[in-house]
Amino acid sequence: MKISKAIFSVIALALLTVPLWRLDTTTAMVTPEIKKQAFGMTASREAVELYTLTNANGVEARIMTYGGTVVSLKVRDRHGVLGDVVLGYETLEGYLKNSPYFGAIIGRYGNRIGKARFSLSGKEYTLGKNNGENTLHGGFKGFDKVIWKGKEVKSKDGVGLSLSYVSKDGEEGFPGNLTVTVVYTLTNNNELKIEYSATTDKYTVVNLTNHSYFNLACEGAILNHELMIDASRFTPVDAGLIPTGELRSVKGTPMDFTRSTVIGARIDQRDEQLTAGRGYDHNWVLNNVTGSLAFAARVYEPRSGRVMEIYTTEPGIQFYSGNFLDGSITGKGGQVYKQRYGLCLETQHFPDSPNKPGFPSTVLKPGQRYNSSTIYRFSVR
Ligand code: BGC
Repeated sequence: MKISKAIFSVIALALLTVPLWRLDTTTAMVTPEIKKQAFGMTASREAVELYTLTNANGVEARIMTYGGTVVSLKVRDRHGVLGDVVLGYETLEGYLKNSPYFGAIIGRYGNRIGKARFSLSGKEYTLGKNNGENTLHGGFKGFDKVIWKGKEVKSKDGVGLSLSYVSKDGEEGFPGNLTVTVVYTLTNNNELKIEYSATTDKYTVVNLTNHSYFNLACEGAILNHELMIDASRFTPVDAGLIPTGELRSVKGTPMDFTRSTVIGARIDQRDEQLTAGRGYDHNWVLNNVTGSLAFAARVYEPRSGRVMEIYTTEPGIQFYSGNFLDGSITGKGGQVYKQRYGLCLETQHFPDSPNKPGFPSTVLKPGQRYNSSTIYRFSVR
């Protein structure tokens, strides 16, 4: 009798405390805030700051002024438990020493420019060859390796951080002084919104993106994540990962993510495109062609229940399955980042557009404003 009473009390207590605990972590409202702290110095003794943005649900993004980098992003799983869903380092030193663009703003031209050159207004411009014969992510010192000026911004949606940088005429070979602003907003709807804008004083090319490596399980390989991309075509590449210029249908190929598919299901298939990328490392041609914010992709991680949806104004998205991670980097919490332990979904104009007249233009002229917006929205299932 006594024993059954005790069991009953334990069960009753468990039933009472579980919902309370859930309530505490999932629905408790906190006041949205943004805090700034020192995060160290670069080799040339420039101070780096770290901003911590917290929304009303306790979701938290940490962004530093070096590279405008998302250092951590803590979102809830289906039990309400916060977990950091981006790869990176705990300290600035890691980023300064060796970072495959973890979380950074990429520019002046995200992705590759073939043979590290392009012509504009009858003039040829040569860039740094930092990826074989090609230029990758803005060259040797892209926007991921510069210090951005941070400023808090008021937002009715949540908390915001504005980052600005002036890229000098001729920097990394690109023409024109380019004044760039990137506003990160962590909304109370659990979205990380990124709004990029830029102006120039000479004809130039611009393609900005963010290079966060996501892992919605917060550990291990991303091969069990399910991915859907709203794109019927992709841009096939040559062995140097430069698009051939063709827009090819995904139908009947391992590139077809029009229906949600486990990333690992086809990644090792014998396929000339997968061989070139050592997995997925391609640009998808989004079905959205209006230039206004539209749904682009969705990732679902079944163990945690986390869902990430991406909306963008851009015509393309690079899905990179972390193929070049090789276990040589130990990141946050002592995690060893092995091949395919993180995935990137970089909204963008197509790679090598400056040399591909058939692709949507990336040219920015004086008097025009470059505008691009992307939203990463988190929820659970
Ligand atoms: C590229 C990969 C590259 C990686 C660098 C991605 O955006 O598509 O080819 O290796 O960035 O970390």
